[in-house]
Amino acid sequence: MSKLGRNDPCWCGSGKKYKNCHLTFDSKLDMFRFQGAVVPSRKLIKTPEQIEGIRKSAEINMAALDYVGSHIKSGVSTQDIDDWVYTVTTQMGGIPAPLNYEGFPKSVCTSINDEVCHAIPSPDIILRDGDIINVDCSTILNGYFSDSSRMFCIGEVDPEKKRLVDITKKAIQVGLDQVKPWHFLGDMGSAIHEFAKENGYSVVREIGGHGIGLEFHEDPWVSFVSKPGTEMLMVPGMVFTIEPMINMGKDDIFIDEENGWTVYTADGMPSAQWEVQLVVTEDGYELLSW
Ligand code: MF3
Ligand code: CO
Repeated sequence: MSKLGRNDPCWCGSGKKYKNCHLTFDSKLDMFRFQGAVVPSRKLIKTPEQIEGIRKSAEINMAALDYVGSHIKSGVSTQDIDDWVYTVTTQMGGIPAPLNYEGFPKSVCTSINDEVCHAIPSPDIILRDGDIINVDCSTILNGYFSDSSRMFCIGEVDPEKKRLVDITKKAIQVGLDQVKPWHFLGDMGSAIHEFAKENGYSVVREIGGHGIGLEFHEDPWVSFVSKPGTEMLMVPGMVFTIEPMINMGKDDIFIDEENGWTVYTADGMPSAQWEVQLVVTEDGYELLSW
């Protein structure tokens, strides 16, 4: 990293002098790095302009999820959901980020009951009373990425499954309460893990959240079974997702061998997931997509 003079323009693009902008920030980051902490690279620290671009992308993402929320019901196919997401997203000028992402064939992930995540929409999959489903939407607008997911309960849902959905939603807030600058991602991940365990559930270990903004998946990888004081340091301007997959039974999972995408619980018990995207601020966080 080149050494910036105090009076040079700041690297962040604010136009301010370095000494009046990120100099204190960089010294603090250096101190943490010196102590052995994993610290974010500059690419992971978004400018106000980039954050505004992500906000606009997220408006479309949330509109697509809102549309799903007001039309989803028993009898609907997961292909119908895919069609809605594609239509809302493109009509608003966005691109569904999952479409053709590493070969993913559809515009959204629709994961039902024991499907943990990344399930592929199909006209043959019809929602039935008692199903719980995660709809995971991601949008690209002007090169900026947004990503969030919600659970929906179809008709009368067994109280045990309803509780899994509700506790998983609460787990998001438990995690968000730990998002503070100069604290660690592990503080957030462990809070979610402990909360899930207290409620009798397990948390998927192999799949996590991620940095996001200029790409779909950026560093850091975000675990929800991590330990306090470990993983990357959270600093203002970092944008990432909180998206724990919480299982009613054991945490073991497997991937569908035929399609290479759909993740299932190994014990066939239900799994739930909610996802939000946030930016770390000077005093906590701001939600960008939910
Ligand atoms: N939206 C998922 C996430 O939260 C990623 C889905 S990738 C896809 O990271 F290709 F399956 F869509
Ligand atoms: Co995500």
